[in-house]
Parts: sequence; structure tokens; C-alpha cells
Amino acid sequence: MKKQIAALLLAAIPMFGFAAGGTYPLDSVSIDLTDKAAMQDGAKTFVNYCMGCHGAKFQRYERVANDLGISEELMMNNLVLTGAKFGDHMQSSMTADDAKKWFGVAPPDLTLVARVRGADWLYTYMRTFYEDPTRPYGVNNKVFPAVGMPNVLVGLQGRQTIGCKQVQIEENGVKVFDQLTGLPVTHEACDQLTIVPNTGSLSEAEFDEKIKNLVTFLEYSANPVKLKSQRIGTYVLLFLAFFFVFAYLLKREYWKDVH
Ligand code: HEC
Repeated sequence: MKKQIAALLLAAIPMFGFAAGGTYPLDSVSIDLTDKAAMQDGAKTFVNYCMGCHGAKFQRYERVANDLGISEELMMNNLVLTGAKFGDHMQSSMTADDAKKWFGVAPPDLTLVARVRGADWLYTYMRTFYEDPTRPYGVNNKVFPAVGMPNVLVGLQGRQTIGCKQVQIEENGVKVFDQLTGLPVTHEACDQLTIVPNTGSLSEAEFDEKIKNLVTFLEYSANPVKLKSQRIGTYVLLFLAFFFVFAYLLKREYWKDVH
């Protein structure tokens, strides 16, 4: 019995480990899988900034082009950077062995990452890299502590540091202002992320939008049939509505003689 209890406790450890990693509050993002412009922008960011290390090997370039309304020519000239063919899977040019050597851990395939992590997690993860000189690449991450990935978007976002700063007090999600002066009421909070001004090519709002688009692409990539299944769902409901009418008429016809 004791052994069984011990085994049960051991089995539960990974669960606790996962919960402990998820203490940072996630920013929520609403994803629109009908926004093709967003997904195109996200696909561009993905091939330019991620595919050096990560692949999306369950996804084909051709499928992405068709689903997102990108012509073959545009796709081949601008989005296929690895020498792959139009019908090929989106594989990273880096081999798993090299990756292990360089990063200690192989960058995982990202085709299904949105299903595993969720959109809010991805959106927060990509925006919470911060400078930490104790880490091998000089960066750490808020939702993935001691991450083995360098901050590849630092040129867009700018350098992000962590420390104490004045932040505006919020009550029930509403920012508080002084009733007499109209000035924001602040208090000092530590463990806060701040972007060093003029170190990135995008403003904070533009960067957030870029990441939202990237997450939209990853969400599409993990659920490529979602767009189609929504359409099929509508047909099924229409069919059922028609079928119900016929079934009802038929039932009336049959029961007429029984009575
Ligand atoms: C220089 C190589 C490199 C590049 C470029 C790179 N990554 Fe990574 N990434 C990694 C490594 C290595 C890991 C594994 C980190 C670990 O397990 O500690 C990782 C992990 C991740 C994870 C966490 C996966 C999980 O569920 O554990 C996500 C999400 C991710 N990367 C997204 C991206 C995105 C999006 C881009 C492009 C904007 C990108 N990465 C670019 C190397 C890279």
C-alpha cells in the first residue's frame, strides 16, 4: 500500500512542476482565424525569424499559400528561404544534432505548439524576454524561466530590462487617477519589465500587433482544418433543418393510416 501511495505521489510530480512554471499572469489575446492579412504577416515573421531553428514540418508551403491567399510566385520568392519546393513540408534547415550542440536542447517543431501551449501563453512568451546576464544568451523569459532560446526579436521589440518602477494603481482593472489633480496614482513595483526606448525598430503597440499576427499564424497552423470545419458545420446544420422537415412529413404520412 505504501509503495502504491509513493508511486502515486511520484506520478503527480510532473503535474506540480508544470503548475509551478505557470505563475506569471498571461496576457490574453483574441485570435481571428478569418483575418488573412494577419496570418500572412505572421507567416512572414515565422519564416524570417523562426525557421532558422524551428520547423513546422506537418505543414506544407503549398497548403499555407492556398489557405492564406498567397500566390505560388509570391510564396516561392518571399517566404521559401530554405531552398525547399512549393509542395515541401516547412522544415528547418538546422539538423537536430547541430541544434543540440548549439543550444543544449533541440528547438521543438512548432506546427502544433498553439494546441499545446495556447494562444495566450505564446503571446506572452514572445513578449517577455528580458536581459539577464546570468543566462548563456544574456536573456531570460517570464513564462519560460531559464529558457534555452535567444531573444530573436530583440531588433524589433528593443532591449527589455527588469527592475523596479512606478506603475499606475488599478482597481478592478480600471486605472486610478487622483481626484484633485487628475494625475495617475502610482506605487513602486518591482519585477517589472521595461523596454529601453529607441532600441527596437517597432513601437510597443506595433510589436504587440506583430506578435498577435505571429500567434494567429501558429494558431492556424495547429488547426488548419478549423476554417473548413466551420463552413462544413454550417452545411450540416442546414441539411439537418431540411431533413427534419421531410422526416416530419413522412412521419405524418405513415401515422395517418395507423390511427
Ligand atoms: C536561434 C535559434 C532559435 C530561433 C531563431 C527561434 N527559436 Fe524558439 N526555441 C529555440 C530553442 C533552443 C528552444 C528550446 C528552449 C528550451 O527548451 O529551453 C525554443 C523554444 C521555443 C518555444 C517553446 C516551445 C515549447 O513549447 O517548449 C516557442 C513557442 C518558440 N521557441 C517560438 C519561437 C518563435 C515563434 C520564433 C520566431 C519568432 C523562434 N522560436 C525562433 C531556438 C530558437
